[in-house]
Amino acid sequence: MRGSVTISGAKNAAVAILPAAILIEGKCRVENVPDISDVRVILTILQDLGVVVEKLPGGAVTLDATYIRSTKPNPEFVKKMRASYYLMGALLSRFGQADVALPGGCNFANRPIDQHIKGFKALGAKVDETDEYVRLCAGENGLCGNRVSLDVVSVGATMNIIMAATLLPGQTIIENAAKEPHIVDLANFLNTMGADISGAGTDTIKIRGVQKLTGGTYAIIPDQIEAGTYLAAVAAVGGDVLVKNVIPKHMECITSKLEEMGASIQNFDDSIRIVSNGNLTCTTVKTRPYPGFPTDMQAQICVCMTLADGVSKLTENVYETRFFGYCNELTAMGADIQINGKTAVVTGTPRLSGASVTAKDLRAGAALIIAGLSARGTTYVDNIHYVERGYEQLIEKMTALGADIQRIEE
Ligand code: EPZ
Repeated sequence: MRGSVTISGAKNAAVAILPAAILIEGKCRVENVPDISDVRVILTILQDLGVVVEKLPGGAVTLDATYIRSTKPNPEFVKKMRASYYLMGALLSRFGQADVALPGGCNFANRPIDQHIKGFKALGAKVDETDEYVRLCAGENGLCGNRVSLDVVSVGATMNIIMAATLLPGQTIIENAAKEPHIVDLANFLNTMGADISGAGTDTIKIRGVQKLTGGTYAIIPDQIEAGTYLAAVAAVGGDVLVKNVIPKHMECITSKLEEMGASIQNFDDSIRIVSNGNLTCTTVKTRPYPGFPTDMQAQICVCMTLADGVSKLTENVYETRFFGYCNELTAMGADIQINGKTAVVTGTPRLSGASVTAKDLRAGAALIIAGLSARGTTYVDNIHYVERGYEQLIEKMTALGADIQRIEE
């Protein structure tokens, strides 16, 4: 693979920042929004609620939530993705109520929202939760800031509670908060619009409620996982690629592992050059919340391990069942992967063989595409709609790097 690839805006920042526009009584402009199906779904939900959405050229979007007319998003759209749960916190904060169907999205693991609910209750919300929807309204003492200590480091709960607390009277402290780059991005977006949030990126976040948010302009950070996916592809297939529009600091946990495996990495201000001859050596990876090795890179690094010389160990500490989204498919391509609880033992093989495989979630699909690009023969990856949920123009970007990849319309 040769050439350069430009990374799009971060999916997991965009799917939080766009619903956060509900908090603003006015117009905001969000730039570097990735053109992916999850973003298209959330924008449809917002328009359906009465937010005026305008898509501009070059990945910018304006949103005006002044005249929202409903606090019940369309359940059919809500069920299409996981991040629709952010509508709960945003609607509760702005309107004191919300009626949101339970989210859908990639079901590679049991993904409860009990920590989100814990946060809303701590802020004074009355919660009516069924296995279909979550209804929130102000409790008898009203809504106000409070201290919330999360039992689990949860990206979604951290972001949802930040949004819920933004317009409430008083101060909210979130303890044991997640520290992912997209959480800092949400806090920076809200502060740009007039919020008062400090500590994002640490495990303790303070939100001082404000009366209202005004408009403004904000650019979403580059996608750490999209960048990591291309780096893993070059490491596995071999090549010399410049990955542009990245924040190297966000990539350290990924690039250090790929260097350990034998790829050479050069960091520049906003780009990373990776060179690999495809000959990798085994390593050990344990996924962790940021700044650890991201669970969303588990499948991609596993593909590198299947091709590495020696025996690698991959331990999943966030979603224990995530291996089952793709390991059988890689085994069908000739990989040697033994799963034992939270750990997969991966014995490298010189090369995988093309096969017909099926993507079961977003990152599994991306990993199978990397496996197919490295394998001898042709690989058919079914269900690539999962991949297109989170990767902007993946086929076009891979093709520009010299990959032989086509979409087959069914
Ligand atoms: C976000 O999911 C991401 N999705 C996921 O990325 C990512 O894998 C995950 O964070 C971890 O980084 C979005 O941002 C839209 P969590 P989220 O709450 O927020 C448990 C991708 O590929 N938990 O941090 O749902 C949970 O079961 C997607 O882009 C509770 O127990 O993840 C898990 O074990 C896949 N109760 C752990 O915490 C809760 O209320 C981390 O989950 C919430 C979570």
